[in-house]
Amino acid sequence: MNAYLKLDHIDKHFDRGGVSAEVLKDINLTISEGEFVSIIGHSGCGKSTLLNLIAGLAPVSAGAVLLENREVNEPGPERAVVFQNHSLLPG
Ligand SMILES: Nc1ncnc2c1ncn2[C@@H]1O[C@H](COP(=O)(O)OP(=O)(O)OP(=O)(O)O)[C@@H](O)[C@H]1O
Ligand SMILES: [Mg+2]
Repeated sequence: MNAYLKLDHIDKHFDRGGVSAEVLKDINLTISEGEFVSIIGHSGCGKSTLLNLIAGLAPVSAGAVLLENREVNEPGPERAVVFQNHSLLPG
């Protein structure tokens, strides 16, 4: 499959008062250009966290988000997010 967006062994954890909360572990996904993918799961399973990582709005703890084989770790015009709640981005 021709990878447009690739999630490569992604981990994400948050620091909660000195305690590390593991939210995503070893997430792998390859999406082709034009492919339509839905991510489903119960509330709190990490869907929005994953979208924030793809959007470059939060850093991965491990692994990489690859867009056409280039690692992305900041927002860019080729990735857009519609937030669940009204949001203002810093800046
Ligand atoms: N900034 C943060 N700091 C600490 N914990 C966080 C943070 N953001 C998310 N979490 C935790 O990560 C987990 C996943 O949250 P997330 O919002 O990604 O879930 P979700 O799948 O989008 O849920 P929902 O279906 O309710 O939108 C939850 O336990 C949440 O409390
Ligand atoms: Mg969500």
